[in-house]
Amino acid sequence: MPATTLRLRQRVEAFCSRFGLRVPILLAPMAGVPAPPLTIAIAHAGGLGGCGVLTMLPEEILRWSKSVRAAEVKAFQLNNWIPETAGQCDPRQEGVLRAFLERWAPTDACAEMEAALPDFQAQCEAMLTVRPPIISSVMGLYPSSYVGELKKAGVAWFATISTVAEARQAEDAGADGLIAQGMEAGGHRGCFDARAAEKQLVGLVALLPAVTDAVRIPVVAAGGLADGRGIAAALLLGAAAVQIGTGFLRCPEAHIHRAWAEAIARCAPEDTLVSRVFSGRAGRSIATDYVLAATASEAPQPAPYPVQRGLTASMRRAAQREGDVHRMQAWAGQSARLARPIPAGRLVGELWQEAQALLSDAWE
Ligand SMILES: Cc1cc2nc3c(=O)[nH]c(=O)nc-3n(C[C@H](O)[C@H](O)[C@H](O)COP(=O)(O)O)c2cc1C
Repeated sequence: MPATTLRLRQRVEAFCSRFGLRVPILLAPMAGVPAPPLTIAIAHAGGLGGCGVLTMLPEEILRWSKSVRAAEVKAFQLNNWIPETAGQCDPRQEGVLRAFLERWAPTDACAEMEAALPDFQAQCEAMLTVRPPIISSVMGLYPSSYVGELKKAGVAWFATISTVAEARQAEDAGADGLIAQGMEAGGHRGCFDARAAEKQLVGLVALLPAVTDAVRIPVVAAGGLADGRGIAAALLLGAAAVQIGTGFLRCPEAHIHRAWAEAIARCAPEDTLVSRVFSGRAGRSIATDYVLAATASEAPQPAPYPVQRGLTASMRRAAQREGDVHRMQAWAGQSARLARPIPAGRLVGELWQEAQALLSDAWE
């Protein structure tokens, strides 16, 4: 048996046995899509569920964890964004932006209040109280004191990275594993320096071998993986497991708006783009009418994060109410069209069966 193939099986089985999984498939933590039933279904099928706590109060984090544990789910991932210094918007730019956004929906008078997020420290303490097997970070690294507390509590810290340099920084800072996010990924870019997001768009096929060559810790692949072909390819490129976001969004347990789920079904790879037009931070969404208009050359520059998030809040709320996907924050990765509208547990089974069939020579 060639050494490379032996490594593949060992690496995947070591990851699964460490976290009590039967299948090396993780649900991407998705802020705004907490969906405990999705985590429960994925865990019951042998994968790992998770929750992005960005907008959740500490008591909501505790409640979420209690509800999945009540369904006999032992392992899951909690995830938080590393905060950056809040950007300021000068009143003139804000005025121009408000005038532009008025065409899509009335903007809120108090954009700052809309943009406010729960206290990061308190969220981190709540995650530690829960003590899941994995706590992950995105957009940077946890402070070393928190990393120390995670280690004391026996919680593995997985850092999301999008470049080789970030992978090395995370390993040096004590990360137990990495989530390598390729530029195909739906949702916000995980890069450490928010200003560099558009310059650091590395595709997963280039990122994975480079990162797995550069570090010793396990690497989970994320971005544009939504069927057995992508999963098999990611494992062959050195990943120990995969993390899927958009691919689970059409499952009934995800409970996203029907208009968003239907748009995902129609979305070709070239129908998504990375922009700052929803929050002020770069993220990949469907190129809807609003996204196209707001990224046109004559459109005003988005305000910094999180001001833009506050300014677009009323438009996003109206879109949800009215089922208008063109004004929704319709995050999606480049493989959106591969997402299947079937129960999540069945999807996990199908995906792993397909991947194993493709890997059979390497696996046995
Ligand atoms: C709706 C949505 C919300 C997301 N929220 C988060 C988040 O809160 N934290 C995080 O680390 N990643 C977040 N991501 C990114 C995912 O973790 C992951 O990198 C991405 O979904 C993988 O690409 P895919 O969507 O093509 O599968 C989000 C992705 C989506 C689609």
